[in-house]
Parts: sequence; structure tokens; C-alpha cells
Amino acid sequence: MRLVEVALAERSYPIYIGQNIWREIPRLWAERLKPGKVLLVSDETVFPLYGRRMVDSLQQAGFAVKSAVVPAGEGSKTLAKADQLYSAAILAGLERRDLLVALGGGVVGDLAGFVAATYLRGVNFAQVPTTLLAQVDSSVGGKTAVNHSLGKNLIGAFYQPKLVWVELDTLVTLPQREYLAGAAEVIKYGVILSEALLNLLAARWQDFLAKEPELLTAVVGDCCALKAAVVAADEREAGLRAILNFGHTLGHALEAATAYGHYLHGEAVLAGMAMAVKLALGKGILSSEDSARLLEVFGRVGLVAPPPALPAADVLAALNRDKKREAGKTVFILPEAIGRVRAFDDLAAEAVRQVLDCYLSGGTAGDLLRLTD
Ligand SMILES: NC(=O)c1ccc[n+]([C@@H]2O[C@H](COP(=O)([O-])OP(=O)(O)OC[C@H]3O[C@@H](n4cnc5c(N)ncnc54)[C@H](O)[C@@H]3O)[C@@H](O)[C@H]2O)c1
Ligand SMILES: [Zn+2]
Repeated sequence: MRLVEVALAERSYPIYIGQNIWREIPRLWAERLKPGKVLLVSDETVFPLYGRRMVDSLQQAGFAVKSAVVPAGEGSKTLAKADQLYSAAILAGLERRDLLVALGGGVVGDLAGFVAATYLRGVNFAQVPTTLLAQVDSSVGGKTAVNHSLGKNLIGAFYQPKLVWVELDTLVTLPQREYLAGAAEVIKYGVILSEALLNLLAARWQDFLAKEPELLTAVVGDCCALKAAVVAADEREAGLRAILNFGHTLGHALEAATAYGHYLHGEAVLAGMAMAVKLALGKGILSSEDSARLLEVFGRVGLVAPPPALPAADVLAALNRDKKREAGKTVFILPEAIGRVRAFDDLAAEAVRQVLDCYLSGGTAGDLLRLTD
């Protein structure tokens, strides 16, 4: 088992990462927080798989557990669902010193985290992420949110959990497509902060695909440690935390232009990262060797093709809507070397258009690399 600390003074918390640690962790929790009531929040896919085991192990550690289950998927990240969970918390008699636990992917984590942040002005909160994306990204860092009909993640709070438990066992049942989408975020950490992580992934890609336990503990642990360090330095995204948005500028635009119906988040981010690498190469800030290495690794995951005939104008319009929120400039995080990125707000519109056209016309990672400026 690996332990990563998120260092945020009085809001610091541990992330435990391991394989088959169902018995150990609730005991550790009981030592840290006096066992009281737990409201376990999960979704209709994850609860039947792991709910029983979770409830049993929490009960054995002395917690009194009630459960609330929401439908699986993004559609549950609403104020209406949050309101149902407030009712469940009130009916369960949950008090501030009790514990709200999210068991599931980023949807359950974001929704339950938002409820934990607001119910009684904040109750103890713990995350048990069950998708690779949630394990390396959304469960760490304290961003919680629900969606509004006018936009994603518009209603939320920064609210740190007290504990995070990454049970790697749960990845066994995760659909391969979801696993690969999470892999995109893993690769992202390598590009922005750690050449060693990228090298490890590249060298042991088959083991990573086979979910080899020791490797997963190392990789997921490294990602959590990297994100924890960024969050500790910049909890509320005043500066450094923006590097986590590598690949997300164009990624979000692709998601928005396809009404969130075509890509999984990580798939759009992977395409966004590939285009960002090509932009960095074109701008002369990244070597052709590093670009080739990166695009080769992206190619192993495989770029998901856009929907047929998606107009570049739709993606650029989505990019511009985002720009308005960023005070008028589109900011791209671009790599200068593997493991080092910087923010740029002076990309030529023509350069962006060109990489986007290449990708939208069916271009693979290799085609992007060969695209001439
Ligand atoms: N808070 C943050 O910092 C942050 C960061 C990134 C993403 N997010 C949010 O995370 C959400 C996406 O998260 P996600 O990709 O985990 O999606 P998700 O929570 O919808 O999970 C994906 C699917 O996998 C199923 N699933 C989960 N774990 C499983 C398991 N172990 N076995 C089988 N099936 C399983 C779920 O039921 C769901 O159908 C988005 O809403 C996004 O906005 C938040
Ligand atoms: Zn992301």
C-alpha cells in the first residue's frame, strides 16, 4: 500500500492507494475520525459491484452506514440530485462530525463532494474513487460541482476531503474504454511534470493495459503525488494549477462542440494534448524528438476520431466561448520538454485552425506529427 499526503496545513489529508485493502482502510479511518454515522453515496452501476463490500468493511470498523444511490452518468450531477441527497442525509441524521463517503467515478465524487461541502455548511467527506480518471484526478484536489442547464460544473465549491482511499481492485470491472480515457490523464501528468512517469508508462505499456497491481500502485501513486504537490502550491487555481489544463483547452472545445455526447472526457483531452504538442512543435518550443516520442505514446492509447463532418467552426466557437470566461484570451498550456509546460496566450489563430483541420479530417497522432507548417 502507498500513502500520499496532500499538504494543506489544517486541511491536509492522506490518500491510501493499494490493492485489496478493504479491511485495512476503514480501520485507519476509524482511528482518524471517531466512528459515527456514514452516508455512502454511489451510483447504480458501482453500488451493486462494491456497495456490499464497502458497507461491510465500514460496519466492521464501527461505522453505522446508510446508503444513497443515484443513476450512473453525468445526468446525476444536478442540483435536483443534490437535493435528494440532502434529504437522505437529513433522514439519516447525519451531523457535521459524521462522514459522507463517495463510492464511484468523478460524477459521484463531484456530486457527493458538493453535498458534503454545503450540507450543514460542511460535513466530513471521504472519496473512494472507482474509475482511473477519478483515482488520478477528480478525487484529489477538492474541486466539487454540479452542472447547470447553461453549462458544466458551474455550481460548486472547493472542499477538501478528509480521506481518500484508492482501491485499485475496483478497476477490474471498469470498461476498457473508460480505463483508456483515464490513461490520457495519467499521460498528462507525465507530459506536464514527470518524464520518469512517461518513461515508465512507455516501457511497461502492456503491464499497464493488463492492470498489473504493482505497476498500477506506482503509477496511480505518482499521479496522486504530482497532483497533490500542484494543489498544495495552488489550491484555488490562482496560477500553477492551470498546468493541469494541458490538453484541456481544445479538449473542452471538442466536448462542447459535440454536446458532450461523442467523447469521454479523457478521449477529448488526448486529442487536445496531441494538437497541443503539434502547436508546441510548430511554435519552435518543443524539439521534434520530444514531439515524436509524445505522439507515439498518445498513439498507443489511440486518438478517438471526431464525429463525421464536425465543422472546425463549431469547435472554434466553443473555444471562443471559453475565452470569454478567461478575460479575452485563449490560454494554451504547451510543453517545452517532456515534464515541463508553460502557458501561452499568443497562439496564431491560423496555427490552431491548421492542427484542428488535420485532426478533424481523420488525422491520427502520426498525421499530426507529419503535418507541415
Ligand atoms: N473534481 C475534479 O477535479 C474533476 C476532475 C476531472 C473530472 N471531473 C468530473 O468527473 C466526471 C467524470 O468522471 P468519470 O470519468 O469517473 O465518470 P463517471 O463517474 O460517470 O464513471 C464512468 C462510468 O463508469 C462506471 N463505473 C465507475 N466505476 C466503475 C467500476 N469500478 N467498474 C465498472 N463501472 C464503473 C460509472 O457507473 C459510469 O457509468 C465529470 O463529471 C467531470 O466533470 C472532476
Ligand atoms: Zn481532465
